[in-house]
Amino acid sequence: MAEALHRRGANEIPRADGGLENLDEEHAYWIDDIEGDVPKDFSGTFFRNGPGRQRIGNTTYGHWFDGDGMLCAFSFANGRAHFRNRYVRTPKYIEETAAKAIRYRGFGTQIPGGLRKNFLKMPANPANTHTMWHGGHLLALNEGGKPWKVEPSDLSTVGEFTYDGGLKAGDVFSAHGKVHPRTGDYINFGAGVSGIGLTGPKPCLTIYRIGGDGKLRDRQQVPIATFPFCHDFALSDRYAVFSIGSIVFGNMIPVMLGTQSISDQIKFDPSITMKFLVVDLETLTLTKMFESSPGAMIHCGNAWEEGDEVVVDGMFTDNFRANKTLVDVFNPDGKFGGGTYMRYRLNIATGKMTSERVCETESEFPTFNTVWAGRRNEVNYTACSIKNGADSFFNGIQRITREGDAKVLALPKGLYGSEPVFAPRHDAKAEDDGYVLEVVYDAFKHRSELQIYRADTMTQEATLKLKHHIPHQFHGHFTQQVFSEVAAAG
Ligand SMILES: [Fe+2]
Repeated sequence: MAEALHRRGANEIPRADGGLENLDEEHAYWIDDIEGDVPKDFSGTFFRNGPGRQRIGNTTYGHWFDGDGMLCAFSFANGRAHFRNRYVRTPKYIEETAAKAIRYRGFGTQIPGGLRKNFLKMPANPANTHTMWHGGHLLALNEGGKPWKVEPSDLSTVGEFTYDGGLKAGDVFSAHGKVHPRTGDYINFGAGVSGIGLTGPKPCLTIYRIGGDGKLRDRQQVPIATFPFCHDFALSDRYAVFSIGSIVFGNMIPVMLGTQSISDQIKFDPSITMKFLVVDLETLTLTKMFESSPGAMIHCGNAWEEGDEVVVDGMFTDNFRANKTLVDVFNPDGKFGGGTYMRYRLNIATGKMTSERVCETESEFPTFNTVWAGRRNEVNYTACSIKNGADSFFNGIQRITREGDAKVLALPKGLYGSEPVFAPRHDAKAEDDGYVLEVVYDAFKHRSELQIYRADTMTQEATLKLKHHIPHQFHGHFTQQVFSEVAAAG
């Protein structure tokens, strides 16, 4: 059905947006349709998160970001692979599933019924963006709310999670927290308000430090000038680096009144320059701010320190035209795409900033071996958009050295990729001693598969074919831990 919906002519390549059709069913099975062999020298769990549905009843949500979070777990043990998917049971998911209709506002979704239905209603947290296993907690994360805790062995929902009350009413917690390899701390942040000033609410970033024991140890507010669309940050050994860019929230009064959504009011303002805030990880206070030209960096890569410089990788964009596609994901004219892979050098001593382009390919979802987070690493991976005659949605992956040597793997026309995630081999000896895991949507078959590549050569080791598709997801997390149910069965 989806194939027919997302292909206009018999000879046309099916489009990427077929991969956004709902997966309403929840599955759990050993994957037995495999080309090649699952490597026996790695084991662990690859969690991924993303909106599992874009339609409820007969209605399509008003933004890709508003689909309900559906976690997937690929578990590997003894050369076998197990798959499971399950929705996070947020109030939005439960009530809208029962009603078969929109009951909550979202980032770009309004409740049908106009002002009367939306007046002073806050957007719901769909728990759909990222996932993290840290301190004994598996979290489903969305920057518009608090984490949702999930049981790792069967992905059942435990509930909204506050770190024993450390996250207060009104606190939000981003999807892009990072674990510091040296300290084991999980550093995260949320956009918030530090008080009311003469011109209204004063925006800030609240920065959180969670210890390796899973307890919230510290939180501090860093004031900022505007309410930003700040989605990610980069972690060096001593600093967290935030980019506050030109994508900003405009007039929020219609949003509060219920006549417009947040997405209606978000805009790229070229009069606002992009700033980098360098925050000290010991004190969680601002060390230095750098000002760049207008632009935005939605996703960051790694960061590290070289003398007085903090070096930060990120995907730069000079517009937010992508939002037009995000609000109307099944529009056949909609284009998805990436940004420009840039590297910034921020000199803490002199305040000087320089930048350079790292590679030519349009890139998004930068990843690397997270053991190297905060240290100068050699290898990064991105999802990329290549002109291959089909949709420009992520249709390739690339391995890029620090020097910018890129090896691009193009997917065949009609196959669409995702964020590549590194998984280390047992007793890995080098940064790229392991595998790259890539979920691919095959639009011809309306099914998804997990492709496994050797990270050093990017040669394909195995393709694990699922019995269904997985709606395009945002982010994933790999842990070498295998959880009880699958470990016992494996
Ligand atoms: Fe993200």
